[in-house]
Order: sequence, then structure tokens, then C-alpha cells
Amino acid sequence: MSTESLNILLVDDDKSICYTLQRALTEKGHSVMFSLSGKEALNQLKQSKFDVMLLDLMMPDMGGTEILGVVKKNYPHTEVVIISGMGSMRTALSTLNMDAFDFLSKPIHLSSLFNVIERIQQKQHNISLEPTSISLLPSSSVPELIGKSQSSQKVIAIIEKISSSNSNVLIRGETGAGKEVVAHCIHNKSPRRNGPMIAINCSALPDTLLESELFGYEKGAFTDAANQKKGLLEMANGGTLFLDEIGEVPLALQAKLLRVVETKRFRRLGSTKEQIIDIRLLSATNRNLETAVKLKQFREDLFYRLSVISLQLPPLRERKEDIPVLVNHFLKTLAESGKPLKKILPKAMEKILSYAWPGNIRELQNIIEHAVVFSDNDTIHADDLPGHIQQRAVMDQESSFSTDAKGQSLENMEKNHIEKVIQDCGKNRSQAAKILGISERALYYKIRKYKIPT
Ligand SMILES: Nc1ncnc2c1ncn2[C@@H]1O[C@H](COP(=O)(O)OP(=O)(O)OP(=O)(O)O)[C@@H](O)[C@H]1O
Ligand SMILES: [Mg+2]
Repeated sequence: MSTESLNILLVDDDKSICYTLQRALTEKGHSVMFSLSGKEALNQLKQSKFDVMLLDLMMPDMGGTEILGVVKKNYPHTEVVIISGMGSMRTALSTLNMDAFDFLSKPIHLSSLFNVIERIQQKQHNISLEPTSISLLPSSSVPELIGKSQSSQKVIAIIEKISSSNSNVLIRGETGAGKEVVAHCIHNKSPRRNGPMIAINCSALPDTLLESELFGYEKGAFTDAANQKKGLLEMANGGTLFLDEIGEVPLALQAKLLRVVETKRFRRLGSTKEQIIDIRLLSATNRNLETAVKLKQFREDLFYRLSVISLQLPPLRERKEDIPVLVNHFLKTLAESGKPLKKILPKAMEKILSYAWPGNIRELQNIIEHAVVFSDNDTIHADDLPGHIQQRAVMDQESSFSTDAKGQSLENMEKNHIEKVIQDCGKNRSQAAKILGISERALYYKIRKYKIPT
């Protein structure tokens, strides 16, 4: 049986049920988010891919069956498990005809919940050759690129300039700096905008799966290849292929990729037939690829091919003028998704401005969401910010976390920061990952890499 962790969205207007289930499922290693209204849930679905939705039938703003209908139509890969009270058992039964995976009745027994989740894991394992880390975001759900600082304006101007060309672009920047947003902007402004935009995170798949995802395969090409399958190179034909975390592609695959970039030709695994494709390649990395080249971890020829145009996104701490506009933008979008509209007090903004934002815009976005949930009235006070932002703000002014922090390496700074956030969250990894703006899987990886005690 697969023990893959799942991305789960809980939808229930009862906060205490959400907290309890979130905790139980997080302890089993899953990534769990929750929404307290139907509208908020639909918004979350636009932003992230979920394997499972646990959905209460009785929501104040939208009926569970209505939400189920939308999910099955637009996000068919998301399995929906209905949660029903005793009074709504009949409706719950009828949702099975609407392709709900199963239903659980309240009060929910954790053993039944885990059983359903295990069955979903099993089902997903059986179709595990389906892409797992590919996003096919409809362009309407791509976030706007916000920023009024000089450096952001420069990035926006460069995007305008390069979008119409067909040149490969390497987008660089720290984690959470907006590389994926930029990639979508380039595609949406390019003459290929009506073609497909296919994104794949190269670090999220094991090597062999990454190759078969990209190249596709013929029936019988390897043991699990029961049917032929198109690869992403083919699927992106006429559009844009975005290779995220390109620095993580293994050397053997880099050689194959180089051939595709040079010749715009490829073969499915197990096929002798060569196909010609018309794609524009965008890639992104937060690694220093020049160093990787020197260390012989990344092919120099591929590096030059991919970075015909190189676009560097500055970290948020170097464009602080963007912070107030971003904060207001996030407050507005949270309000649009059903959360209360809140104002931020100058003292809180001061703390935010003096913090170093190692997780960049993603971290800022998560902190604002956290503050909106935790503030008691319609204003966000400095106290509503997580402890490490408040303390760090003071330490930052003493330059313990500035870019030139006493000659500390970036890795060291990252390690210290992760350690601090994990402690602030009482060692709750799921919450720490959220605050750091990375997936739990990425956090586990970093904990192992830096040998952080947990
Ligand atoms: N200029 C921007 N305006 C508004 N939102 C932004 C901007 N840049 C990034 N974001 C938001 O910040 C989050 C992180 O952005 P994105 O995923 O593009 O970062 P990334 O550089 O690809 O990060 P990673 O290296 O971790 O993959 C997203 O939720 C995105 O919507
Ligand atoms: Mg990214």
C-alpha cells in the first residue's frame, strides 16, 4: 500500500471539527488545510491541487451537493468524502451517485476516517502513473503580479519585452519570490497564450517518473506501462513548458533534455518514432546554477541553452516598498474569498517592514492570512503577528538576519530560521511549513538536510 502523504482540504463551518481532523490527519503525515465556507473552499481549489476534500453537507453559504458538483466538474482528480449529520443521511447517500468517494457520519470516528483515507491512497497508488506534480492552472486563476518598487517595475518591463519572443527564459530567485507567477505572466502575455501552459516541478518526482512524465511512453515500455501515455513535452506543443526547480533534474536526464532543447525533437520511451514539437521553455530555480555547473552537477551546455534570457527576481527584503501594496492586496483577496475584511495598524506594518522575509512573498501571504484569522476585531495589531515576526523584527534591526549577516552563509541563515519557526510553533511541523511558505514534504527534507532536532 502506498504511504504517500495526501493534500487534504477540510470544508466545514465548525472550526473545532476542522481543528480536530486537521490535527489527526497531520499526525498521519498529510498536508491539511481547511475552509469554513463553501466560497472559501472553491477559492482554495483554484489555488492548490488537493487529492481529497472532506466536505460537510450543511454549509451556510452553499450546499455540500452544490460544491460537490463544482468539484467533480472542474477538479475531477480530487476525491470528495462527504461528512453528514444524522438528519442528512439520505442526501449523503445520494451523493454517491454524484461520484462522491464515500461519506462519513458525525460524530466522526477517526478509525473510519483513516480507513477512507487509506482507500483513497490505494486508489491513487493504482493510478500513480498519472502526473502528480503538474499544474494546469486556468489563466484566470493565475495571481496578478503586484509590485511598485523600482526593481519590480523593472521585472514587469522585462516581462513585457521578452514575452513576444520565443527565447528560453531562466527565472531565478529565492523561494517564494514569485518565479511561478512570473512564468505564468510570460506565457499569458506571449503569442502562445491560447496554447497550453504546462508546469512541472522537477524536484517533486523520482528520477524515472520525471522522465516518463516528460517524454511519455508506449505500451510495454516498462513494467507498469499498461497503456501508452503522452508526455508533457507533447502536451505543451504549441504552448509553453515550465520546468520548475530545474536545478534538481538528474544529470542523465539533463542530457536527454538538452537534445530536446537543441533539436525540438523527442521520442516517447519505448518508441522509435521521432516527433517534432513547438514549445517555449521557461525554467526556474532557486539554486546557483553556475556553482552547480562548476561542481559538475549541472551541464554547462544545458545551462546556456535554458538561460538565453535570465530573469532575476530580487528577494522581498530588497524591495520593501512592495510590502504595503502586497499586504493590502492579500487583505483584499482574503476578503474576496469569504474571510472578513481587516485593516492593518501602523505598528503591525512596522514589524512587517522590519522583518527579513526569508520565505519572501509566500511567507508574507501566509502571515497575513494567519493574522486575519487570529485578530479578534476588524484590525490587525502587532500582537496578532506570530512571535517570530515580532522578535525577529527587533533582531533584524540589529542585522542578525540581513543579507550580509555577519558573513553567515545563506544555508546557515535558512537552517537557523527553520529551527526558530519550528520552535515558535511548538514543534507543529504542519504549522511551521505553512509559516515558512513551503510544503510539509519540503520541510521534512530540510529538517533532514540540516539535521534539525524536532
Ligand atoms: N508579485 C506578486 N504579486 C502577488 N503575489 C505574488 C507575487 N509574487 C508571488 N506572489 C505570491 O506568492 C506566492 C509564491 O509565489 P511563487 O509560487 O511564484 O514563488 P516561487 O518563486 O515559485 O517559489 P518556490 O521557489 O518556493 O517555488 C504565491 O502564492 C504567489 O501568488
Ligand atoms: Mg515555484
